[in-house]
Amino acid sequence: MKVIIKNIAELVQVEGNIQEKVSGAAMKNLGTLKDAFLCMEDGLITDFGTMDSWAGIDDWNNTEVVDAEGGMVFPSWVDSHSHLVFGGTREGEFVDRINGLTYEEIANRGGGILNSAAKLAEASEDELFESASTRLIELIKMGTGALEIKSGYGLSTESELKMLRVVKRLKENFPITIKATFLGAHALPVAYKNDKEGYLKLIEEEMLPLVAKENLAEYVDIFCEKGYFSVADMERVVTAGKKHGLIPKVHVNQFNIIGGIPSAVKLDALSVDHLEVVNQEDIDALKGSSTMPTMLPSCSFFLKIPYGPARNMIDQGLPICLATDYNPGSTPSGNMNFVVSLACIHMNMNPEEAINAATINGAYAMGISKTEGSIAKGKKGNIFITKKIPSYSFIPYNFGHNCIDRVFINGCEFNR
Ligand code: NIG
Ligand code: FE
Repeated sequence: MKVIIKNIAELVQVEGNIQEKVSGAAMKNLGTLKDAFLCMEDGLITDFGTMDSWAGIDDWNNTEVVDAEGGMVFPSWVDSHSHLVFGGTREGEFVDRINGLTYEEIANRGGGILNSAAKLAEASEDELFESASTRLIELIKMGTGALEIKSGYGLSTESELKMLRVVKRLKENFPITIKATFLGAHALPVAYKNDKEGYLKLIEEEMLPLVAKENLAEYVDIFCEKGYFSVADMERVVTAGKKHGLIPKVHVNQFNIIGGIPSAVKLDALSVDHLEVVNQEDIDALKGSSTMPTMLPSCSFFLKIPYGPARNMIDQGLPICLATDYNPGSTPSGNMNFVVSLACIHMNMNPEEAINAATINGAYAMGISKTEGSIAKGKKGNIFITKKIPSYSFIPYNFGHNCIDRVFINGCEFNR
C-alpha cells in the first residue's frame, strides 16, 4: 500500500543524512520543506520533496492520496519515559498537595508509589491491559508514535512480571514501537520496609532472571534518590541488569543531587531521566558521553518542583531529550505537545530545540533513531498531519490545544 500526502504547508524535521542525536548548538537546526509532499510505502517513508518537484502518480493501484489541506506534517513524537501501566489514579494525593502536603510527606504516609503498588496488586492483567490500551490510544491520537513503558508499581515478583506482560501485550496489539523497562527498584515495598538488602537480593536473584527468561524488558531502571535507592544500589541493580542483557536508563536528580549522573554515565546508561536539579559536575560528566539527558517538564509542572536547566546544558554543548513521565502520581498526562510547550515556556528552549528533543533525541533514548524520530527515506511512516497552523512554533505557543488532525503509523492512518 502506497500513501501520498500532498499539499503539506511545511514538512517538519526533514533529514538528508540520518543522525543518531542532535546536541548543543545543532539542536537549533530543524530541517523543513515548504509546500511539500510525502510518500510512504509498505510502512516506510519512501520519498518527499516540494510539490513542484512531485512527479505525480503513474500507478494508481494500491495508492491512496491524502490531501493535507495546508496542514503541516511532523514525525510522530517519541516518548522515551512513561509509566503507562497502572492500576488506578491518585487524584486524592493531588488534593492533599493542594491542601499543603508535599510529595515526600504523602509518600512517607504510605501514599505515592506504594499507593500505586497496592492498586496494581488488586488489578488483573486483563484490567491493566484494558486501561493501558485506552490511555495508549489517546496518546497515539495526540501524536506519539513510540513509547517506553516501565514496570515499578508491582514491587513483588508476581506483580512486576504482571506489569511487564501487559507491556508485552501492548506491543503485540498496537502498531507503534514500544520498549519495556524493568523498574523493580522503584521503592521499597511494604513487605521489605526494613530490609533493603533483602529486596535488592530479590531483584537480583529472582526478578531479573525471570524478566530475562521471558524476554520481558529491554532496559533496567532504578529510582536513585534520597529515601529510595542510593548510588551504590543503582550500581548494583544496573550491573545485575546488564548481566541479563538489559541496558540502563535511570531516574536520577529529581529532588536531590546524590551523584547519580556521574555514576550512571560510567555505567553507560542510555539515558539519565528527570534532572530537575543538576550541578556543573553532572554537566561535565555528561559531556562527551553517550548518555542522553532526559527532562520531564510536565512532572515539574504538576509537582511544582524546579524545571531542569536545559538551556544551560544545551549552551554547554549537551543534547536534551524531552519525555512525558506519564504516571498517576507525579505526571498524570501523556501529552507530548504539552511537554514541548513547557520546555519552551519554562526551560527557554526554542521550538526547534524542543521539537528535536521530542523526536530524534527521544528516538536515541529508545535506541530507535535509525528508524524513527525524523522524516527521512527508509524511516518508519510515523507522522501526524496538523490542522492549518501558521508555523511550527504555533504548536508550543498554542499550549493546551490539540493541533493534530490525522495520525499515520507505519504508513497507515490510525483510526481507533
Ligand atoms: O518518575 N520518580 C519516580 N517515579 C515516578 C513517579 C512515581 C509516582 O509518584 O507514582 C516519576 O516521577
Ligand atoms: Fe518516571
